[in-house]
Amino acid sequence: MELKINDYQFGERPEVTRPKPEILTILGESGIRKLVDDHYNLLKKSDYSPLFPQEEEEFEAAKLRSSDFFIQILGGPEYFNQNRGQPKLIYRHSNFKITKKARIVWLECYQQLLPKLNLSEELILSYWNYLNIFSAWMVNSKE
Ligand code: HEM
Repeated sequence: MELKINDYQFGERPEVTRPKPEILTILGESGIRKLVDDHYNLLKKSDYSPLFPQEEEEFEAAKLRSSDFFIQILGGPEYFNQNRGQPKLIYRHSNFKITKKARIVWLECYQQLLPKLNLSEELILSYWNYLNIFSAWMVNSKE
């Protein structure tokens, strides 16, 4: 299975398809929270660690905000909307300098994690395609 990182032009916003809800059915909310935890822990070891909250409590809170979103996008309870309001993710990322390279590193962390999940190839690819495409929307700074 190849999880390929697409290269998009700066400012391009390719059409996004939501990941399949079966992913949440199979992994459960705890599985999604663990995936996001693992992802943030890899980011913390990356060159882009300074982008993320440095204080432990705030870092854990960031994991929670993100996993709330992913549970919601996978068809689960609307935790993110309840706790934060409308996602407006482009706007929420606009305070952070997200370059093409930052997106690649962010995706590389998921490349390490997704194949280890107890999911069929079809479901892993569904999750990957969503991340691969939607992450391009967050790129807001030229190198
Ligand atoms: C599919 C793509 C992505 C999704 C769905 C996503 C989702 C989220 C969500 C839900 C939040 C919390 C927003 C809030 O409640 O204020 C967040 C925060 C953040 N994201 Fe992303 N993100 C994506 C891509 C990226 C990329 C490529 C980067 C670059 C490294 C990035 C860096 C950050 C940073 C620095 C924060 C702030 C941390 C915090 O919550 O305090 N994100 N993201």
